[in-house]
Amino acid sequence: MRKPLVAGNWKMNLTPSEGARLIREIQSAFHDAAEVVVCPSFVALIDALETGAPVGAQDVFWKESGAFTGSISAGMLANLGVTYCIVGHSETRGRFGKLEVDESCLGYFSETDETVRLKIVALLAAGIAPVLCVGETLAEREAGNTDAVIQGQLSAALMGISSTDASRIVVAYEPVWAIGTGKTCDTPEAERVCGMIRSSLTGLVDGAAEEMRILYGGSVKAANAADLFAQPNIDGGLVGGASLIADEFKAIIQAAK
Ligand code: PGA
Repeated sequence: MRKPLVAGNWKMNLTPSEGARLIREIQSAFHDAAEVVVCPSFVALIDALETGAPVGAQDVFWKESGAFTGSISAGMLANLGVTYCIVGHSETRGRFGKLEVDESCLGYFSETDETVRLKIVALLAAGIAPVLCVGETLAEREAGNTDAVIQGQLSAALMGISSTDASRIVVAYEPVWAIGTGKTCDTPEAERVCGMIRSSLTGLVDGAAEEMRILYGGSVKAANAADLFAQPNIDGGLVGGASLIADEFKAIIQAAK
């Protein structure tokens, strides 16, 4: 039985004190039927952890230590008490790392399938559960390539990962065109893609596929969360904008009951 997970991705929002205040406002909505994790910016991690809430990071660098100015390692996050970390978010992936694609489809940090895999390996070694984001752009969807794009992202990210390790990974299906746009992928299509992801996982990390949680992300809000979370292959949500609004996020947490 997979326990639903509701993860709030705060992105580059909220100071440490604002973040801690938001967590205290939503904590009354936490319940045993689902796990809730908030993912603040690096500078707000410590204050968030002090509330006692489960906390994730939004990114990590894969090396253990060394001359990597501006970077934070999985070991450093684990030492703080961080238990989840997002990797491969479409805002950090660099689609081809070049400016010839539309800016709305472009990651800012040129993360590649290979760096995503290296980050997953580093996080697993540090005891942190990776939240692996996959998803297609609008152009890829319109060209009929949705499934192939996602299968490519999954196989590259999970190459060489054992099924025991894979069972600790959470996959988030985030269609790029639905992120921050207010456009949600309709529920039957979100379920179809999440089901396709689970079938693909069977081929990649066989024994773990049924245990792994698959989240939907992209304009999740109180109004659509219950419908999405009721689907057999959707085990919760990765929530951006709505996780910054206490009442919205509380309602989304309730929807995972
Ligand atoms: P959104 O973001 O809920 O604001 O669309 C989701 C995400 O980027 O993880």
